[in-house]
Amino acid sequence: MFDLSGKIALVVGGAGYLGSAICRAYAECHARLVIADWNEERLNALGKELERTGAQARAVCLNCTDSGRTAHLMQSIKAREGSLDILVNATYNRTNKSVEDLTEEEFNRANEVNITSMFTLARQATELMQSGSSIILFSSMYGTISPNPSDYQLPVVPNPIEYGAGKAAINQMTRYMASWLGPRAIRVNAIAPGSFPWNVKDNEAFMEKLRAKSVLHRVGIQHEIAGAAVFLASDEASFVTGHILAVDGGSTIW
Ligand SMILES: NC(=O)c1ccc[n+]([C@@H]2O[C@H](COP(=O)([O-])OP(=O)(O)OC[C@H]3O[C@@H](n4cnc5c(N)ncnc54)[C@H](O)[C@@H]3O)[C@@H](O)[C@H]2O)c1
Repeated sequence: MFDLSGKIALVVGGAGYLGSAICRAYAECHARLVIADWNEERLNALGKELERTGAQARAVCLNCTDSGRTAHLMQSIKAREGSLDILVNATYNRTNKSVEDLTEEEFNRANEVNITSMFTLARQATELMQSGSSIILFSSMYGTISPNPSDYQLPVVPNPIEYGAGKAAINQMTRYMASWLGPRAIRVNAIAPGSFPWNVKDNEAFMEKLRAKSVLHRVGIQHEIAGAAVFLASDEASFVTGHILAVDGGSTIW
């Protein structure tokens, strides 16, 4: 079970904290990877790490909001890898601004990554996909529940309104695209993580608030996202579509 041999996976935002864990897991399950990100340094480091393990991975540095570049990426996948079976989009952007300070332009710019490019990339990917393919978008617990403003007081930056609004849009986009692609037997699901801070030594008082959100009383660790991403990409999830899979330690159940 959960063997991704013969599958081509494009992981956008693949150099990130959660995206890189997914790349490692897909490589372990024998997928052939194309990793796209605009952080060249992290992208190259991950590319080298995967190369050392013998994984088949190609790194592409791009801005995912540049639809010309992403269209070109799809053409290169068609030419080099031949097809596309899995798309994961683990990018995001956020302003970290309070409602009072946030401008309309900043709201839109962040959601160009969070919403518009998620849509554009998924639509472009479907041009290469056959039946049995899988699209995985990234939502958040804050697409379902609201952050408690008192958890995000200085020196912690606000969890901004455009972020959760964008993630709620992803929940609906997942259902819409699943309905649209159902007749082609292409599945569309989302993963909604809870708190996965990359720097747990950051601010102990804030970390304790994050831990308290989970019924398990802890935050998530990078590799704990991988199982959900492998499952949704695999043929074992062949009857799972339009689903928002919470990986949040129960943070949204109470
Ligand atoms: N870490 C968490 O606690 C958490 C919680 C809920 C949801 N999420 C979601 O999980 C996903 C992954 O988050 P993460 O914690 O790994 O974040 P991260 O910042 O480590 O990774 C995001 C990656 O996306 C890339 N990226 C951002 N904008 C881009 C652009 N315009 N073009 C190309 N690449 C771009 C970044 O360079 C980065 O490598 C995101 O969608 C995020 O909203 C994370």
